[in-house]
Amino acid sequence: MNGKPRFIVFEGLDGSGKSTQVSLLSERLTQMNAPHTVTREPTSANPVGRLAREAINGAFPLENETLALLFAADRYQHVAEEVLPALNRGEHVLCDRYYFSNFAYQGGSADFDALYAYNRQVMKKRRPDLVLFIDVPPEECVRRIMRRDGKPRSGIYENLETLRGVRRRYLETFEKLRQSENIVVLEAGGLTERETAELVYDRVRQYI
Ligand code: TYD
Repeated sequence: MNGKPRFIVFEGLDGSGKSTQVSLLSERLTQMNAPHTVTREPTSANPVGRLAREAINGAFPLENETLALLFAADRYQHVAEEVLPALNRGEHVLCDRYYFSNFAYQGGSADFDALYAYNRQVMKKRRPDLVLFIDVPPEECVRRIMRRDGKPRSGIYENLETLRGVRRRYLETFEKLRQSENIVVLEAGGLTERETAELVYDRVRQYI
């Protein structure tokens, strides 16, 4: 344990189990008495994040570009209001989604350079120390969403074709940002939550 507060980001498709992994890592850090904060994007504490969430749940139509800017705006507020203060208090921050989601989900129509520009100020403020991509095949994600909810969800991103595109764009984004980011792809297809949690902890332990 080296004690330096770390900013650890989890990314993955809807249904990949990343939120469960955030919780399991949080439990483990609690057992280790490691002070930490758990947070997520889109946020729920401020109206910008709530608006983004409502839009992706189909409450009202928005241009993809508007949506991309909304997520980026929510992120700037989030990093200023929650992430940096927690790190400054000496806590590790576990964050469920960050700007990689913007590239993967809005990158279907907004182009990479535009998305990069929208997130530039956030990148200047704080890049993650570690990004963990919980890589589960889209088919398995859809099966899990069905099992969890009993029906396909109404979220605009939660069907097989869309998730395939999202996964492809995640991997393209990681390739493009490789020089400046510390990204680890964890192959979690077919694994249990506990098995995946072990893979996660194996990567995290050297940072905390
Ligand atoms: P998710 O983590 O799946 O939350 P929940 O379990 O509450 O649905 O995230 C919500 C959705 O937000 C997800 O479909 C991806 C989307 N999203 C974007 O499209 N762009 C972004 O920049 C972010 C942060 C999320």
